[in-house]
Amino acid sequence: MLEIKIEKNRQPKEKPTDETRLGFGKLFTDHMFLMDYAEGQGWHDPRILPYGPLAMDPATTVFHYAQEVFEGMKAYRTAEGEIQLFRPECNGQRMVDTCDRMCIPAIPVEDYVQAVAALVDLERDWVPHADGASLYIRPFIIGTDVGLGVHASKSYKFIIICSPSGAYYAEGINPVRIYVEDEYIRAAPGLTGFCKCGGNYAASIKAGALAEEKGFAQVLWLDGVEQRYIEEVGAMNMMFVYEDQRIVTPALNGSILPGITRDSVLKLGKQMGYGTEEAHMEIHDVIADIKAGKITEAFGTGTAAVVSPVNKICFKGEEIGIGNGSIGKITQKLYDTLTGIQFGKIDDPMGWIVKVK
Ligand code: PLP
Ligand code: COI
Repeated sequence: MLEIKIEKNRQPKEKPTDETRLGFGKLFTDHMFLMDYAEGQGWHDPRILPYGPLAMDPATTVFHYAQEVFEGMKAYRTAEGEIQLFRPECNGQRMVDTCDRMCIPAIPVEDYVQAVAALVDLERDWVPHADGASLYIRPFIIGTDVGLGVHASKSYKFIIICSPSGAYYAEGINPVRIYVEDEYIRAAPGLTGFCKCGGNYAASIKAGALAEEKGFAQVLWLDGVEQRYIEEVGAMNMMFVYEDQRIVTPALNGSILPGITRDSVLKLGKQMGYGTEEAHMEIHDVIADIKAGKITEAFGTGTAAVVSPVNKICFKGEEIGIGNGSIGKITQKLYDTLTGIQFGKIDDPMGWIVKVK
């Protein structure tokens, strides 16, 4: 159990009056959680402070060699005014796994969940009321040693910030267009694809920017060796629905981020009676199956993106429409069930919800 000290912000900000225009990750709450790591001392001094800038030496290692990990989660407000988290221990475990790869001392899952819950509890008035909006939570760890040698840092900061947010895509729940990237890659065997570390995103920005210039919401990444197999999208995992009501997603291979929404959708899909499959998905086969009408729906899954229908894929200059262009039936059902559980509108048979008391 952490003993968290709290210093309240004496100059709290005005809360947004129009929650339908929050956007994603633009506005931050009044407080942040911090905890330090030092060699020989371990993680210590957990505290919640007024939100504000960090003063850091310009030679701090994270600025140069990106020894950094992060997570993404949300807190939801129910109609009864309760505040709840969705599978927070899964994010805590993923951070442990990412830390291991990035040579960062892990934070025990129970401490991670306690820290998130303590900050959200203090910021509960910031959890939006508007339909579909929530409090996005961004925990992260940075290496804080000062010096330019390339080594694992011996000191770190664990920080959590929160941002009241709406839909990740400007399109909201409306379908998005995705660009299949066949020049740049996001990950390769032995690298950090399965990690939630900032470096993965830094390396992806150029392809994302080029896709955006062409009017696409995000990039669909292929494997880093042959550029033949579908991996995932910039900020979400990909799912395809076949005409026989099978939901198929690329199998985890060390290069794909093991999404918590991905796992939840697979479990919900199975419970609803659909077939679910994790497979090697060859891009040419998938394109052929879309054209032949065998793939009837496609969507991405992610904490920020939730369940996001994809109605067009661009591959080697050709744009291929999926289904009839609007959100598919199974996609909609999965979206309704997942968000129903998250916002407490329907029962939580899986025991995924953790209430913030
Ligand atoms: N893949 C990538 C690259 C992501 O950034 C995300 C977002 O977190 C996901 C997949 C989906 O993961 P999760 O459902 O845990 O949010
Ligand atoms: C999330 O869905 O939580 C993410 O981290 C996506 C993010 C890169 C915007």
